[in-house]
Amino acid sequence: MESLYIMVTAIVAWLILCVVMWRLHRAKQHINIATDASVLIVYSSQTGNALTIANRCAQALNLSEMSDVLPLNNLSIEHLSRIKKVLFVLSTYGDGEAPDNGNLFNDRLTQALDESITLEQVNYSVIALGDSSYPDFCAFGHQVNNGLKALKAQPLSELITLDNYDEETTRFSDIIPAWLDLNNTQIDKTQGNSSYNWQLVEREVLNPNCGDELLVKIGLKCLGATPIWQAGDLIDIQPRNSVEIVENWLLKHVFDGSLWLAHQGHQQPLSAWLLERELPEKCYIPVSDLLTQLPYLAKRSYSIASVTENKQLELIIRLLQKDDKSFGLASSFLSHHCKIGELIEGKIRSVKAHHIINNTQPIILIGSGSGLAGLKAQIAARTYAQQSLNENIGAMWLIYGERRNDSQLPINQHLFSLKDTQIDKLSCTYSQGNNYPKYVQDILVADQYIIKKWLDEGAIIYVCGCLSGMGESVHQTLIDTLGQKTLDDLQQEQRYIRDVY
Ligand SMILES: Cc1cc2nc3c(=O)[nH]c(=O)nc-3n(C[C@H](O)[C@H](O)[C@H](O)COP(=O)(O)OP(=O)(O)OC[C@H]3O[C@@H](n4cnc5c(N)ncnc54)[C@H](O)[C@@H]3O)c2cc1C
Ligand SMILES: Cc1cc2nc3c(=O)[nH]c(=O)nc-3n(C[C@H](O)[C@H](O)[C@H](O)COP(=O)(O)O)c2cc1C
Repeated sequence: MESLYIMVTAIVAWLILCVVMWRLHRAKQHINIATDASVLIVYSSQTGNALTIANRCAQALNLSEMSDVLPLNNLSIEHLSRIKKVLFVLSTYGDGEAPDNGNLFNDRLTQALDESITLEQVNYSVIALGDSSYPDFCAFGHQVNNGLKALKAQPLSELITLDNYDEETTRFSDIIPAWLDLNNTQIDKTQGNSSYNWQLVEREVLNPNCGDELLVKIGLKCLGATPIWQAGDLIDIQPRNSVEIVENWLLKHVFDGSLWLAHQGHQQPLSAWLLERELPEKCYIPVSDLLTQLPYLAKRSYSIASVTENKQLELIIRLLQKDDKSFGLASSFLSHHCKIGELIEGKIRSVKAHHIINNTQPIILIGSGSGLAGLKAQIAARTYAQQSLNENIGAMWLIYGERRNDSQLPINQHLFSLKDTQIDKLSCTYSQGNNYPKYVQDILVADQYIIKKWLDEGAIIYVCGCLSGMGESVHQTLIDTLGQKTLDDLQQEQRYIRDVY
C-alpha cells in the first residue's frame, strides 16, 4: 500500500514538473518572439470582400499575398504572439457569426484567456465588414476585437466598420487605419477590376406555369474582351428600375423626364439617369441636385453558373416575391424587364474560398433552387478539364432540391441532361408533394453511409444556395451524421465549401 502511495505521489510530482516546464518554455518563447517587427494581414471572408481589402493592403505595402495574408482559421495564438502589427479584416456572416474561414478563432481566443496568455506585444486594428440591415451589425469583428482586448493586445485604432462595402464606391484611403501609412499612388495602383458591360443574350424560365416563384436561366455575353472567372466566383450586378417605375415617380414628383442632364462626363435625359437611382417616396430635392443626391441602387450578387471557357456567363435567378406580393428589384430586372439585347453592368468578384484546386477528387454537390448556379459552375469546370484538357476528374454526385416533380419542366430536363452527359450520380428531392425524401438534408441522412464512403475516398462537399432553410439544415445534418470535428477538419482541408447566401 505504501509503495503504491509513493508511486502515485511520484507520478503527480512528475506531471506537475512537466506542466511547470511547459509553461516556462512558453513564457520564454513569449520573450523571444516579442521582438519580431513584421506586419501580418489576416482576413475572414465568405464572399471575397474582406479578402479583396486584405490583398489590396498587402499589395500597397509590398507584402506577399501568399505568405503575409492569412485566413483567420490559419492563425494560431502562438503565431499571433510573434507578430508586432496585425491588421484583421473580418466580415460577419449568418446571424452575426464568423465566415467559415474564421469560425475556429474565437475558441482559440477563449482558450488563450483560460490559459492566462497575454498578447501585450501585439498591436492591431480591426476592419469589420457587415450590413446594417442585419440585426448583429459587424458582430464577428466586434467579437474578435473584444477578445484581443481581453488578451491585452494593443489596438492601434478604433474598430473600423464598413456597411455594405462596395469596392467601386468606397475610397480605399477612407477605410484603412492610418498606421498602415499607404500613400495614394500605391493605393491607386492596386485598384480592383472595373465593371463590364454584359449583353443579355438568353433567358429561359426553368419552371413555367407552376405557380411558384420563377426560376430563370440567364445568359450574358461580355462586350469586348471577356474577363476571366472561375467556378465559385460571383458577379455583382447593377440593377435598374423598370421604365414604368421611373415614369410614375417622375409624374408623382412633377419632374420632366425628357430634360437632358450632364453628369460625370455623360449626358442623357433625366428619365435614363433615374433607372439606376433609388427613388424615395418623398423627394424635395431640386432637379439640378438630383444626380448628386439620389444614391445608386445597391448592387446584388449572383453565383456564376458557367466558366470562362463556356464563352457565356450564365446565371440562375429566383424571382423574389415578398410578403406584400411585390417583386424584388434586381431579380425582376433580370428575369423580366431587362430586354434581350440590352446591356447590364456587372463586376466579377473572385471568391478564393470557393475555388477547388484539385479536380481529381470526387465531389458531392448539394443545393436547392437558384443554388444550382454555383453547382453547375463546378460541373462545367470539371467537364472542361476532362473534355478539353484531357485531365482526369473525380466523380460528381449532384444532390439537388426543387419544388415540383414534373419531368416535363425545363429544370428537370436540364438535370436529366446533366446526369446523361456530365455527372455520375443525381439525387433529386421535391418539397411540394407527398414523396420522401422531401429536402436535400433528408438525402444526406438516408445516404449517410454512401456519403461517408465518398469522403473516405477524398470527396469534397460543395453546398450552394440559400443559407436560411437549405444551407443551415444541410450544415446541421452534416454535423449530426459526420460529427462536428470531422466537419471542422473537412473545412480546414478545403473539402467542405459553403457558397451560401
Ligand atoms: C453571395 C451571394 C450569391 C447569390 N447568388 C444568387 C443566385 O445565384 N441566384 C439568385 O437568385 N440569388 C442569388 N443571391 C441573392 C441575390 O443577391 C438577391 O438578394 C436576390 O436576387 C433578391 O434581390 P432583389 O433585388 O430581387 O430583392 P430586394 O428585396 O429588392 O433586395 C434584396 C436584398 O438586396 C439588398 N438591398 C436592397 N436594397 C438595398 C439598399 N438600398 N442598400 C443596400 N442593400 C440593399 C438587401 O440585402 C435586400 O434584402 C445571392 C446573394 C449572395 C449574397
Ligand atoms: C448570408 C449572409 C449573412 C450575413 N449576415 C450578416 C450579419 O449577421 N451581420 C452583418 O453585419 N452583416 C452580415 N452580412 C453582410 C456581410 O458581412 C457583408 O456583405 C460583407 O461585405 C461580406 O464580406 P465578405 O465578402 O468578405 O464575406 C451577411 C451577408 C450574407 C450574404
